[in-house]
Amino acid sequence: ETIDAAGLHVIPGAIDVHVHFREPGFSHKETWTSATQAAAVGGVTTVFDMPNTNPPTASVAALDQKHAIAGAQAIVDYGLYGLIGEHNLDQLEAMAQAGAASFKLYMGSENPLVPCPPDGAIVEAFEILARLGLRCTVHAENTPLLAWRGDKLRAAGRTDAAAHLEQHIDLAAVEAVSRTAIFAEWTGAKVHIAHESTRHSLPHIRFAKDRGVDLTVETCPHYLFLSTDEGARLGDNFMRVKPPVREPGHAGPLWDALLDGTIDIISTDHAPHLRSEKTRDVIWDCAPGFPGVETSMVLMLAEVSRGRLTLGQYVRMACEAPAKAFGLFPTKGVLAVGADADIVLLDMTKTGRISAAGLHSIGNATPFEGFPLHGLPVRTLVRGRTVALEGRPVGTPGWGRPVTVAC
Ligand code: NCD
Ligand code: ZN
Ligand code: ZN
Repeated sequence: ETIDAAGLHVIPGAIDVHVHFREPGFSHKETWTSATQAAAVGGVTTVFDMPNTNPPTASVAALDQKHAIAGAQAIVDYGLYGLIGEHNLDQLEAMAQAGAASFKLYMGSENPLVPCPPDGAIVEAFEILARLGLRCTVHAENTPLLAWRGDKLRAAGRTDAAAHLEQHIDLAAVEAVSRTAIFAEWTGAKVHIAHESTRHSLPHIRFAKDRGVDLTVETCPHYLFLSTDEGARLGDNFMRVKPPVREPGHAGPLWDALLDGTIDIISTDHAPHLRSEKTRDVIWDCAPGFPGVETSMVLMLAEVSRGRLTLGQYVRMACEAPAKAFGLFPTKGVLAVGADADIVLLDMTKTGRISAAGLHSIGNATPFEGFPLHGLPVRTLVRGRTVALEGRPVGTPGWGRPVTVAC
């Protein structure tokens, strides 16, 4: 194919280390086809898929099953997370050998499919992963604490306070971030803090990094671009995401931390749900999370156009830092930043607006409806082949391949 790139910018494909692509088990929300089409159009050439599917990715058999599903449909490359449960610690090594690219630990979860292991099991899991050299991504939120306080408030009839508890007690996230860092220091494990949402974690992150803990941290566009103020526009229940979007006053410090390197990575926590699942009357019944894999790069490019960051800084947080943290070195010693010809062509003069109807995810309930864009990806290549062109996916299902990680 002949590519005319006159007037365009060329950057490496983005690496999104936190997506929920929903198969097996929840294909009404998303399939590997719809999700990787969304990724390709959004300028993302590699994704790391989370294990909270059904069955959860907690055994070699479940990992093999997901590899088969992803392999048949994906048009971008992918790594699969294995789940750390309380009762599968003896299988982590076999899962790593079967190709788990990383592991996920839920310190906080209300999902019975992915129960939170107790602290003893967490430390033991970290010891195993330290030996295997694989990074462990942690959902660092103390849900048992929130649940206990919430039950108490509801029993006292204070349902409104209970509904807003998650937002107000960001201590539940700060504590879990700190606990993760301490366990990592004890065990020598490499850990990655998922979806950092609050400025109150930042001193604890800096403290751990200063002590030499191999800690990396991501944040996501909803924490950078939204606050609880958006509840008035979108509905408080629709806004539900774990961890919650915080009050105004957190996004600014999170931006600063992303630019100074305290936060290493921009990921998305792409968590698609149907609109009907996100608009229920009781907040606890609303599915938490938003689709994000298609909208992250364009949101950030709009900020590049406004001068908030440089394109080079964006490449550092979206491509270079994730490749380094998760061991993506397709050629020995060479970081996977644009390697294998994973490339995105940008037209920084193009403008547009985000619209849910235009997204490729099945669960397209975006909180960024109407956000103005300036700078769009116009062509995405995975291993030298075009997989998206001018906002349309064009790849052949099955072109995507599993990544190999170097520890
Ligand atoms: C995630 C999902 O929907 O899979 N939702 C979210 O709000 N982040 C699950 C999770 O990470 O808790
Ligand atoms: Zn999570
Ligand atoms: Zn998640």
